[in-house]
Amino acid sequence: MIVTTSGRYNQHTLQKAKNIAMRYELILIMRKKRSVKEIKERYMDDVLVVGNDGISIMPLSGDDTVKYHPNFSMVRGKRLLNNENDALVDAAELKPGMSFLDCTMGLAADSVIASLAVGPSGRVTALEQSFILYLLAKEGLASYDTNIEMINDAMRAIETVYQNHTAYLEKLPDNSFDIVYFDPMFDEEITDSQSLRLITEVTHTETLSQKAIDEAKRVAAKKVVLKDHFRSSRFEQFGFMQQVRKTSKVHYGVIKTDSEVD
Ligand SMILES: C[S@@+](CC[C@H](N)C(=O)[O-])C[C@H]1O[C@@H](n2cnc3c(N)ncnc32)[C@H](O)[C@@H]1O
Repeated sequence: MIVTTSGRYNQHTLQKAKNIAMRYELILIMRKKRSVKEIKERYMDDVLVVGNDGISIMPLSGDDTVKYHPNFSMVRGKRLLNNENDALVDAAELKPGMSFLDCTMGLAADSVIASLAVGPSGRVTALEQSFILYLLAKEGLASYDTNIEMINDAMRAIETVYQNHTAYLEKLPDNSFDIVYFDPMFDEEITDSQSLRLITEVTHTETLSQKAIDEAKRVAAKKVVLKDHFRSSRFEQFGFMQQVRKTSKVHYGVIKTDSEVD
């Protein structure tokens, strides 16, 4: 990936582009009145554009522009702050002070909800293997202003890691997170994130493996949680107890790893 500025940029934007290039070890290309299409064709690479109003990524393949937006997490976050239910919070039984490992961060909507639920005394770490999504989510979580302080704080508190979840899990000690969470790409065609749909080419599409689930069971002190399409065979394949939601195509499955008695 290469970095450039928007067509019209000020000194602050140029400095931000330089900082991003340095932070992620990317090459900064001066815009010089060229279109992004021309830059893509010249350098044959994805282009990260730093504008006066934030960053966007234009993947080499296709004509899409991808920007960070908290999307659905805003609606869910407001509901949660209003003491309404959230299906992920309920499935994982998230409470203040708990720790949550999101093995499939994407644009971090679920991580933001988990971070809100566990609060400042809890912790959320989110893993992403696609560099484009990692960078977008990391920068967006650090700087996007939702105008709601508690949601902003929840976003800023998430630790993001650019890594394959199996490799990351393997290195963790037993019981090091309360909840380990997976939201793999659906085999069925639905996704509630428009941004993710736009950039399916840049998401990492490795199939969820038995190895990852085994490691997750070792790392999770309380539960491993899977979000998937209601028809997914993965619930049964990996031994998740599927929680049926009559009004949604998205279901959660749970493997309990503690010795709690219901
Ligand atoms: C359906 S999306 C997750 C959406 C996310 N829950 C949200 O709320 O925005 C799945 C994400 O997992 C990532 N992914 C898939 N396999 C992975 C792996 N082995 N390690 C880390 N990330 C992975 C994909 O690149 C993709 O961004």
